[in-house]
Amino acid sequence: MPHRPSFFSHLHPPTLPRRESGFGYTWGMGGISIALFIILLVTGVLEMFFYAPTTAGAYDSVKLIANVAPYGWLVRNLHYWASQAMVVTVTVHALRVIMSGGYKKRRFNYLLGLALLILTLLADFTGFVLRWDDSGVWALTVGTNIIRATDNTARAADQTRLGEQIFSVGADRAPACTLCHSLDGVTLVGPSLQHVAARAGARVPGQSAGDYIRASILTPSAFKVPGFETSTMYPNYSVDLSPEQVEALVAFLLTQR
Ligand code: HEC
Repeated sequence: MPHRPSFFSHLHPPTLPRRESGFGYTWGMGGISIALFIILLVTGVLEMFFYAPTTAGAYDSVKLIANVAPYGWLVRNLHYWASQAMVVTVTVHALRVIMSGGYKKRRFNYLLGLALLILTLLADFTGFVLRWDDSGVWALTVGTNIIRATDNTARAADQTRLGEQIFSVGADRAPACTLCHSLDGVTLVGPSLQHVAARAGARVPGQSAGDYIRASILTPSAFKVPGFETSTMYPNYSVDLSPEQVEALVAFLLTQR
């Protein structure tokens, strides 16, 4: 009878040198990783039936999976331990490929593998966060802070948002700027700060828009806006606000073009 290759013979090439077919050479880590991935996929899909991806419901839905759902404890534990094991097996697999020089022959496979390694670590991290318990939320906080620390646009956006907040509600002892300033052209006690970034650079010779806005907050009496010579701005922002808070206000007002 002719030999029909079964599904399993596809996993390995039909001919394999004897010395390479032993468990000792590759440690079987690639294959184990695939098996773990399939377990993760199946258990993950099962968990999706009960998981609630909302900040309010996530933690309780995880408890539901663990305590109420039929075999939920088993599915959850399988998912958890398969993910931890997969991080180990994928890492060991990558080390094996590097140490045995496997990356030299099949460069594309190697790069693909590195990408999968990173994906695995990221997936492990997001899975951890999904639990939405204390440790998961702290992990998320640390993770987002790392991205923030390296991402200037995120930092700038944070600063602008802080400035907007101080502008509208004040901070500690500092009164809100909205008490005296609108942003829509309406004159209150002080001039409206609509388009203030556009005119700020032309107010005092030698002062850039940012310098002028900073000086307006810290030493308001140094320059009186025409038409407001008799009105007085709150004078104590230089003591009531920290340097960071002043810079946040400057950043926010510079967006009012
Ligand atoms: C008690 C009312 C009052 C409060 C509170 C106040 N201001 Fe003023 N502000 C004024 C007045 C009045 C002027 C115009 C007179 C002057 O230049 O001193 C002014 C001027 C300014 C100017 C110059 C505007 C221009 O067109 O050149 C800026 C910028 C400014 N304020 C920013 C702020 C910020 C930011 C805050 C909040 C941290 C704030 N002000 C809080 C009353 C106030």
